[in-house]
Amino acid sequence: MSKPKLLATHALFEAPQQKLAEFFDAEFWTAPERPPRAELLHRVADKDALICLLTEKIDDELLAAAPNLRIVANVAVGFDNIDLEACTRHHVAASNTPGVLDETTADFAWTLLLAVARRLIEGDTFARSGKWTGWNLDQLCGADVWGKTLGILGLGRIGQAVARRAQGFGMHVIYNDAKRAPVEIEQRLNAEYVSHDAVLSQADFLTLHVPLLPETRGLIGTIELAQMKQTAFLINTSRGPVVNEAALIHALEKNLIAGAALDVYEHEPQIPDGLRRPNVVLAPHLASASVETRTKMAMIAAENAIAPFEGRRPPNILNPAAFEGRKS
Ligand code: DGY
Repeated sequence: MSKPKLLATHALFEAPQQKLAEFFDAEFWTAPERPPRAELLHRVADKDALICLLTEKIDDELLAAAPNLRIVANVAVGFDNIDLEACTRHHVAASNTPGVLDETTADFAWTLLLAVARRLIEGDTFARSGKWTGWNLDQLCGADVWGKTLGILGLGRIGQAVARRAQGFGMHVIYNDAKRAPVEIEQRLNAEYVSHDAVLSQADFLTLHVPLLPETRGLIGTIELAQMKQTAFLINTSRGPVVNEAALIHALEKNLIAGAALDVYEHEPQIPDGLRRPNVVLAPHLASASVETRTKMAMIAAENAIAPFEGRRPPNILNPAAFEGRKS
């Protein structure tokens, strides 16, 4: 019996690649750059399954170009690159990789927070420059982290993992979320639920952990930045469009906030010049990028991709209606 056909838009890692190659007639995009759109449309045309990254836009056009497609397995927890309604209309299941990257992403939010507060990148640049002539009392003094107030917008799994780490720094944790967390979680994390405005105005470090949705696009803009303390730092490891970049650049130029540490951008991979400032730490969307976690993400995507061909619902399906509605 012939195997179902799969396109993976990345070579993935060894174990998931092997698993997929055993199950599917599998094609892997192995070039270092992301596949151009026309190439993607061409290659997916005869495929039954697609494993993609967050750089691929999955929309009506792609789904119409791939009439046999049964599943799109995203190697990411965020799925704003996928038009879920279009997938459901085309009876294509879509899946993501939740849970597996929470701790790794929280580690990185803290990496950014500490780096911007303690001016690590400036210090590294200075140390390498050959211009360091010795210790000095007021050299590259940053801001203390311990004992400060951490404001979290979005207390989902990643927000909670970030809050848990704050306990080691003796911080006061405040948060806001569309849905208040159960009291046991608040108690365990020692996190206080306050209004959205109170998070903005009280946080010394404001960290964002919301998904990109119509209601979170531009969540941090001119008004919100003006509410923040002048000594506060903004950390974003969620999605770029959650922050209005023009407003952030303006706030930095006017010293309305002390600095920012960013892993994500409004129009990736473009990073506006206005963000290239000493008090801004910039990372190229790395928060989940540990070998362990990225391998697990790819393995989860592989398991999701295989499931429908074994008559099973993909474990991380995002649009169950597509699976139920599908004539096999
Ligand atoms: C995600 O999974 O959504 C991250 O942005 C990449 O790991």
